[in-house]
Amino acid sequence: MSTILNKLNWRYATKNFDSSKQVSNEDLNTLLEAGRLTASSYGLQPYEIYVIKNEEVRKELRKASYDQPQITDASYIIVLANKPTFDDSMIDDYIANIMKVRGLSKEDLEGFSKTMKSTLLDLPDAYKGAWTSNQAYIVLGNLMTIAAEMEIDTCPMEGFDKEQYNEILGLTDKGLNAAVVLAVGYRSSEDATQHYPKVRYPEEQIITHI
Ligand SMILES: Cc1cc2nc3c(=O)[nH]c(=O)nc-3n(C[C@H](O)[C@H](O)[C@H](O)COP(=O)(O)O)c2cc1C
Repeated sequence: MSTILNKLNWRYATKNFDSSKQVSNEDLNTLLEAGRLTASSYGLQPYEIYVIKNEEVRKELRKASYDQPQITDASYIIVLANKPTFDDSMIDDYIANIMKVRGLSKEDLEGFSKTMKSTLLDLPDAYKGAWTSNQAYIVLGNLMTIAAEMEIDTCPMEGFDKEQYNEILGLTDKGLNAAVVLAVGYRSSEDATQHYPKVRYPEEQIITHI
């Protein structure tokens, strides 16, 4: 089996982290850079990445996460926060960033800007929120895979109260919403879940070649 498939079989949604083992700053930064490099639709990156280490804040977040122990026992909690809605300023900021990075003029990017605005700005708010949340989940997938490659454990988590997270982390005031959470750390040798066989549909049921 290829190394990457070994690593993906090694990874599992960790239920019990060993709180005595800490992911190093260097590894955390590599992981976050992988998150930052994630692809997004049009490249718009309609999300922000929050990294939480503070113990008091994590105690509060655990209460808002059905008391799941990963929230306090992992080395870090990463909250992927999407923009629940947006207007033309998000697209203008992005265009300004491209101009700076690639040395292009506003006129060079006029067509691209118009395409994004005509496709996105008239969508209903609920759809805008779903679309930006989808983008945040691509970051989640990338972080999990890269962490596995680095033999760092993770647990992706949707089992939390978004409104409470938004309040605890002050996300609403920043035009953000907690989309999904990733606990990052090292598994406890006591976590029985690591020995469970993977439950996945067989290839013939889930993959179609045409
Ligand atoms: C988006 C998402 C949300 C999840 N939420 C939780 C959660 O709140 N708590 C938890 O213990 N596991 C959670 N899981 C873990 C899944 O149950 C787990 O990934 C799935 O059963 C497959 O098992 P494996 O990841 O160990 O291979 C979540 C997984 C994903 C992808």
